[in-house]
Amino acid sequence: MRIVITGAQGQLGTDLQQTLCGHQLTLLDLPTFDLTQADCGRVIVEAVPEVVIHAGAYTDVDGAEGNPALAMAVNAEGTERVARAAAHVGARLIYISTDYVFDGRGMRPYVETDSTHPVSAYGASKLAGEQRALACCQNTLVVRTAWLYGLHGRNFVKTSLKRATERPKLTVVADQRGCPTFAEDLAGMIGQLVAHPAQGLLHVTNAGDCTWHEFAAEIVRLSNLRVPVEPITTADMPRPAKRPAYSVLSADRLHHLGFTMPPWQDGLERFLSAQSKLAS
Ligand SMILES: NC(=O)c1ccc[n+]([C@@H]2O[C@H](COP(=O)([O-])OP(=O)(O)OC[C@H]3O[C@@H](n4cnc5c(N)ncnc54)[C@H](OP(=O)(O)O)[C@@H]3O)[C@@H](O)[C@H]2O)c1
Repeated sequence: MRIVITGAQGQLGTDLQQTLCGHQLTLLDLPTFDLTQADCGRVIVEAVPEVVIHAGAYTDVDGAEGNPALAMAVNAEGTERVARAAAHVGARLIYISTDYVFDGRGMRPYVETDSTHPVSAYGASKLAGEQRALACCQNTLVVRTAWLYGLHGRNFVKTSLKRATERPKLTVVADQRGCPTFAEDLAGMIGQLVAHPAQGLLHVTNAGDCTWHEFAAEIVRLSNLRVPVEPITTADMPRPAKRPAYSVLSADRLHHLGFTMPPWQDGLERFLSAQSKLAS
């Protein structure tokens, strides 16, 4: 299958390259492919793909508060360009989106039909991207994921491991709950969805949920580190962007399609094992 991957050098994009290596891939990313350029869709049209996986995005959640126009230009306008190019060649579009489209005031896992209400500029730009993808390309699947970490790029797990060796204790917010997701598991699921006709919105995360504090405690425990992990509140650690307090995504639709994702603890164990092999 001919597949275009945007954001191919990013955290998820790198794992997608590996998962989909049996296909004919066109890999797009900065600096040669820029979603803010009006003609960025041309290279997609020229590749005549059957599937476009659009993982390229402005992902700096706090940075987006200071530069919402750039977040919109990349995540909304850029996504529209990608969607129009995919539609032009009759390709299926898989757009990667986020749990941050929700405001976090929910009391049970969010299903795909729940109302969105982002509380950050990043979330608003990704929601606008979803809407443009669905409007501009009929054959679109929006995959919403959450709390992504992988072997490539910066993420919470790597930062926690580093801090656990440098600091006498870790302090981590205990009042935000979500679904940590191993990029390799997400890439594997996207690899299966490539050949599936599902359209519309779909939530895909590792199974189960936890707070950032519980996540950090498990990272430390599985790594046999001795550092204490203390809970703090979001108010104790002000940041430019608001985060949803509760952004657990329901796997009901994924299960109805016949797919399951491994528990987040299982993904974390495999990440830590792969990471320690890379380090040695
Ligand atoms: N990370 C998370 O926790 C998380 C959670 C939920 C959903 N998601 C979504 O999952 C997808 C993949 O995330 P990720 O963690 O793999 O992000 P990432 O590592 O930041 O990868 C995004 C890629 O897009 C590229 N990019 C940025 N601006 C661009 C532009 N103007 N034109 C073309 N490419 C551009 C980035 O290049 P540079 O590195 O050079 O900027 C990077 O290679 C994104 O759509 C993100 O919104 C992520």
